[in-house]
Amino acid sequence: MAKTSSVYVCQQCGWKTNRWMGKCAGCDEWDSLVEEKYESTGTHTLAKFDIENPTCILDIKPVNKLRIKTNIEEFDRILGGGLVAGSAVLIGGTPGIGKSTILLQVCQKFSEHGGLSLYVTGEESTAQIKLRADRLCVLSKKFFGCRNNLNVILEHIGKLNPKLVIIDSIQTMFKPDLESSPGTVSQVRQCANELIYMSKRTESSIFLIGHVTKQGIIAGPKVLEHLVDTVLYFEGEKFMSFRILRAVKNRFGPTNEIGIFEMCKNGLREVKNPSEIFLSGTQRLTSGSAIISCIEGTRALLVEVQALVTRSNFGIPERKVSGVDYNRVAMIIAVLEKRTGLLLGGHDVFVNVVGGVKVDEPAADLGIAIAIASSFKDKAIPSDMIVIGELGLGGEVRGVSQFDGRLKEAERLGFKNAIIPKDNTRDASRVKSLKMNEVSSLVEAIDKIC
Ligand SMILES: Nc1ncnc2c1ncn2[C@@H]1O[C@H](COP(=O)(O)OP(=O)(O)O)[C@@H](O)[C@H]1O
Ligand SMILES: [Mg+2]
Repeated sequence: MAKTSSVYVCQQCGWKTNRWMGKCAGCDEWDSLVEEKYESTGTHTLAKFDIENPTCILDIKPVNKLRIKTNIEEFDRILGGGLVAGSAVLIGGTPGIGKSTILLQVCQKFSEHGGLSLYVTGEESTAQIKLRADRLCVLSKKFFGCRNNLNVILEHIGKLNPKLVIIDSIQTMFKPDLESSPGTVSQVRQCANELIYMSKRTESSIFLIGHVTKQGIIAGPKVLEHLVDTVLYFEGEKFMSFRILRAVKNRFGPTNEIGIFEMCKNGLREVKNPSEIFLSGTQRLTSGSAIISCIEGTRALLVEVQALVTRSNFGIPERKVSGVDYNRVAMIIAVLEKRTGLLLGGHDVFVNVVGGVKVDEPAADLGIAIAIASSFKDKAIPSDMIVIGELGLGGEVRGVSQFDGRLKEAERLGFKNAIIPKDNTRDASRVKSLKMNEVSSLVEAIDKIC
């Protein structure tokens, strides 16, 4: 006979114990253990899944290699050229960032091309979905919505055989056989498992929307990220209309590819020319502003870094950064002090990247250093100049990868000057319309502009 037992599960990391504790021993989180009841039937819950015999790799039937296009170019690119049949995609992001919106738009585009999609919502009523669908002009007839009971959903998927299933959100789905409430680790894990299994069996692609925690990671056990084929994160500043969709895991394509969208009245609009929006657009007459180039996936993006150096009023100078890594900036300030003699010890330094983009590659080092030097000396950098280069601790400027792409983007946007590392001189000869200033050290680079 089935025996009911209870177990305390950490809602952050999935660690289990049979008695309540104030602090999880797995991840050190306080007050995260929740009692969950389960029925021990003596067999594993996944035992009902097919048991397959080992097959020779040569005998396995190849899957359909054709990608299913969502017909939203930015979205297809981050997926690695479209959806793979039977794949599972997890999409996370803070509330209100646009997860439901983008997937509703994907449904529309998908249906326009004859595909059948099933949109399952546990967060909104179908009338509310209709309200949103009207605003986004989602008119397709081949579109269905239903509620959050997993057994009912699986039955619908079996009956309708949709090619695209959207679960909004995985934390609101529940399997009545489990006693724990929706959103608990065991519910999330079990629901995700069964939905993914169903999608692999019916070769329908599935999108799971996941809530994120205060720390910005997808709520629930990390295992959710291991279960799916692709993990996408929606990022963006709360007060900006731009949204960045980033692939952090992809079994069928490259990661770190980004898609850029703008939130408008009638949904998310693709931004095809991202560099143009991240440059502040105004004539940069003030000091402390430098244009740098960063590679996001296969694309080069030009962004503006701003620095402000002011005399410190307190004993310990402040260093505040936004959009760049704090430790990297601390290192750049130390190199500036030691190798160029810039005395920043008595000054507060603020560094910001315009447009809410996050820059984390070394090729931005030289641009950040020059922006700080320019603010300190109060001398503006020419507005048609782009700065590329990695900085070493000795104050030397090192070459960067994918140099061609960076220069081509600068050329396309009408830049006329470039400060580049000497190591990249050979690659630079292919671009004719930019005047190159090759430098091998930070001192040389600062001399060129200030
Ligand atoms: N009438 C409207 N006009 C413009 N933007 C809207 C309108 N209604 C909602 N939005 C935008 O849509 C966002 C909600 O997106 P949604 O897809 O529901 O987010 P999520 O599912 O990630 O929580 C809001 O933050 C708002 O920016
Ligand atoms: Mg939503």
